[in-house]
Amino acid sequence: MRFAIVKSAAELGERAFYEIKCVLKAKPDAVIGFATGRTPLPLYEKMAADHAKNGTSYKRVTAINLDEYVGVEAKDKNSFARFMKDNLFSKIDIDPANTNIPNGMAEDLEAECVRYAKFVAEHPADIQILGIGANGHIAFNEPYTKYDTTTHIALLTAKTRSDNAEGFGSPAAVPSYALTMGIKEILSAKKILMLASGEGKAEAIYNMLQGRDDTSCPAAALRSHPDVTVVLDEAAAKYLAFDEWAKIARTAESAAPAAPVTAEKEPPAAPVAPAKEEEAAAPAEETAPVAEVAEVAEDGAPAEDKPEETVEETVEEAPVEETAPAEDEKVYLEAEIIEDDEAEEESAPIVIEEPTRGKKKKGRKNKTLSGV
Ligand code: F6R
Repeated sequence: MRFAIVKSAAELGERAFYEIKCVLKAKPDAVIGFATGRTPLPLYEKMAADHAKNGTSYKRVTAINLDEYVGVEAKDKNSFARFMKDNLFSKIDIDPANTNIPNGMAEDLEAECVRYAKFVAEHPADIQILGIGANGHIAFNEPYTKYDTTTHIALLTAKTRSDNAEGFGSPAAVPSYALTMGIKEILSAKKILMLASGEGKAEAIYNMLQGRDDTSCPAAALRSHPDVTVVLDEAAAKYLAFDEWAKIARTAESAAPAAPVTAEKEPPAAPVAPAKEEEAAAPAEETAPVAEVAEVAEDGAPAEDKPEETVEETVEEAPVEETAPAEDEKVYLEAEIIEDDEAEEESAPIVIEEPTRGKKKKGRKNKTLSGV
């Protein structure tokens, strides 16, 4: 799992769009799984703006949405179908015939679930966009939904109905039921892009990553997926202790790490070419923002607490010249959890990446606190 922490809604949109653009470049006829709600709006704004400016085409894209309220007509302002049309589909060149959403008005809802599940199985998403409920739900898979569910009728919790009341006037007016893709189907996407913003999501994000290993937080199911990118604003990331991890990484970077951590320098196996000027100057959409890497224990405990740990440091020969980032330059803090199946007793290491800042940076330091 990889984390990118951003400072604003606009940055969230840009960072998320980077993931979509990468998929589209590799596969112009990609299947994209869409979510509704407030969180992905900056992404949809960015997609619409980019389409208008750069002509990025969605003509060959198949869109599959996660969910829809039961009993709300597609043309109703509160339907997810209408949300997608108003906020994205009418602003890009996607073929309406290629957009898909469960029909919450179907006479036979069970049969509609079977139809949608079949369609989803036949069209695995190349990338699935997700938001997260304050209670940890993904799509409308509420807490304690089993991980092997496919499209089904979900009973919405009071919390979800109250969180989604805007537009309906009151929580009581929010439908009690929705049709939703199941967790198994969400996990079948090749890539998952989870977006979260605001303090109201901080606890859910913490539970997704470090909460109980059961179904109480449906988003925790994403831990088993091999390719998840989580883009968060700082408020949603507030319980994740990335500051501590970043501090540890920076401390390890200084010449003498505190005892009992020992440092060993390894010469690079082969000379590494300094970053090309044109790479450094490439626009954000084209450049993966990565510069420094550190691995720390998943629990975020400082290295000093773990005497058996060692610090391995690899420094490329080219000197690093830091410059202050330009005012408009985007700076992301990213982290990646690498699953280590072979070491069950060890916690999964987390990689924190900070992007190259400044075009004068000629070399790169890679640092690893291992032994976790
Ligand atoms: C919507 C969906 C939901 C939302 C979640 C967060 O299609 O599947 O899981 O992603 O409820 O909603 P917002 O973004 O409005 O906070």
